[in-house]
Amino acid sequence: MLRSRISGIGMYVPEEVVRNEDLASLMDTSDEWIVQRTGIRERRFAPAGVCTSEIAVPAAQAALADAGISSADVDLVLFATLSPDFHFPGTGCTFQARMGMPGVPVMDIRNQCTGFLYALATADAFVRIGTYRTVLVVGAEIHSHAMDFSTTGRDVAVLFGDGAGAAVVTPTLDTGGPRVRSVHLHADGRHADALRLRVWDISRKPYLQHEGQVGVVPPEERWPEMNGREVFRHAVEGMTAALHEMLEANALTAADIDLFVPHQANMRISELVARRVGIPPDKVVHSIVDYGNTTAASIPMGLCLAREQGRLRPGMRVALAAFGSGFTWGSALVVW
Ligand code: UT7
Repeated sequence: MLRSRISGIGMYVPEEVVRNEDLASLMDTSDEWIVQRTGIRERRFAPAGVCTSEIAVPAAQAALADAGISSADVDLVLFATLSPDFHFPGTGCTFQARMGMPGVPVMDIRNQCTGFLYALATADAFVRIGTYRTVLVVGAEIHSHAMDFSTTGRDVAVLFGDGAGAAVVTPTLDTGGPRVRSVHLHADGRHADALRLRVWDISRKPYLQHEGQVGVVPPEERWPEMNGREVFRHAVEGMTAALHEMLEANALTAADIDLFVPHQANMRISELVARRVGIPPDKVVHSIVDYGNTTAASIPMGLCLAREQGRLRPGMRVALAAFGSGFTWGSALVVW
């Protein structure tokens, strides 16, 4: 039986390092508060003029090189982001043009922090049914251009960073080697208002009109809005449940997991989820310390960092889990 596997990974982050102290000079916050509540010490910000598809290119090139292939071998691109270059066309198109891959189909995945898992599930399905053989999955975000760096926006602004990660998904025979064993996806749109950016509200006619002024967006709709406590609670519950679902589907227990690469929402969320599922702390990857929350990029970035640290080795059973705006959430089991 045909299965899929991750045969290459890559990541890229912009050069500018923004430490907690740097944010404290812009808003009423402190290094102590940010470290205690989130685990984050620093993050990267892209300069003005740089867009999401641009930072995705070096991550994708690194993943292709890691898989030992070139962009000419790719027959499908899946691009996950919540910070697209434009409202339309999708960032998959602008990315594909930058990569010089005309004609290759592209699909945009708009599932926020769970975007990489939705893309992985889609790649896995296409590869298993034989429609596509080499799928380039990209997660990339530029948050720093769309956050409120005043004290009003501090709950969101301290969390997010810019970055890109990519994975190459290719076919393999089901003989027990590296493979995607399962992906489990969920969503509950009843919580859409718990974490959102309303700047494009198509119910308004014309859409940028407010109080009779065309082109004016009210301040509260310019920046991401978040009910942090609600997101936190649902993230812990959702990721924990999705991991239990994954373990049950594969007839495994937490002791069978060699490495846990969670989406990096908050270090406290990752720790709580691991504790509830029974995954020991030394098996949990925390890239959030140096990069903050990079949404759709966080899982492929976490895989890259774990491998760089020698923590991700062939044959390992790797658990993935994510939760984000939507709400969307899910888990996956990958044999490396
Ligand atoms: O991928 C999904 C994306 N989002 C998330 O996963 C976020 C999930 N939620 C969280 O991570 C946490 O809820 C936060 C880190 C956002 C907030 O931590 P918390 O422990 O839930 O704090 P809180 O919202 O209960 O706020 C406690 C206090 C408040 O002040 P008062 O009302 O007690 O006086 C906030 O105004 O902390 C204040 N606060 C801050 N103080 C300093 C909020 N943000 C900051 C800040 N610096 N950046």
